[in-house]
Amino acid sequence: MSRNKLQRFEENQQNHRVIQAGKPIYTNIKGKWHSEFFKNNHPIVLELACGRGEYTIGLAQKYPEKNFIGIDLKGARIWKGASIADQLQLPNVGFLRTIIENLDQFFAKEEVAEIWLIHPDPQPKLRDAKRRLTSPRFLELYRQIGQPAMWIHLKTDSDLLYEYTLEVVKNEQISDLQHTNSLYQSPLLADHLDIHQHPIKTKYENHFTEKGHSIHYIKFRLM
Ligand SMILES: C[S@@+](CC[C@H](N)C(=O)[O-])C[C@H]1O[C@@H](n2cnc3c(N)ncnc32)[C@H](O)[C@@H]1O
Repeated sequence: MSRNKLQRFEENQQNHRVIQAGKPIYTNIKGKWHSEFFKNNHPIVLELACGRGEYTIGLAQKYPEKNFIGIDLKGARIWKGASIADQLQLPNVGFLRTIIENLDQFFAKEEVAEIWLIHPDPQPKLRDAKRRLTSPRFLELYRQIGQPAMWIHLKTDSDLLYEYTLEVVKNEQISDLQHTNSLYQSPLLADHLDIHQHPIKTKYENHFTEKGHSIHYIKFRLM
């Protein structure tokens, strides 16, 4: 591990907002996010595959009456989000370092109110379709921890992931489906504006839009 990475790992170990292996809370937080971590009863919103957590931060500033948890397997990315949350002194932000496949080890039934998926890996190979974060397998995982009718939001530059997700939800129990293949020309952009009314954009999105990709958005309630 590089010195920089080691230092960031150490800082994550010291930072109360980062929950990662090696901390006692990592193994017993399931079902206790309200009482042990946020110390309130506000709804819990997850950003999965959060990277540097731009949405976790942007939405947490906009909705102080909700709690936000960014989840990613990469500690150095989480470190960045946690550092910004510290600078902004946001009381409603946490980061969890784990693989998304293990969500049910960290959240109890109905503990989660909403999920955001921002530019997750589209997993373009057909044999990897089950690893897409909107595959039936993952939707079932979200049902196990989510409140009834919770919102799922997907923002992606990938035509494949957008079309795939629209196909998947045809066979799922969902409601209130809304979508656009051109987010920046759609009234749905309102969902993505920060406290200053600017669109929240992530590192990956800036990279994609420079290449001229269009941004797609889907939201629905999972029943
Ligand atoms: C394409 S990046 C997008 C990051 C961020 N949402 C953005 O838009 O900048 C995908 C992210 O998913 C994370 N990731 C991929 N597979 C994961 C998994 N199984 N569990 C947790 N995180 C995962 C990676 O570490 C990476 O940060």
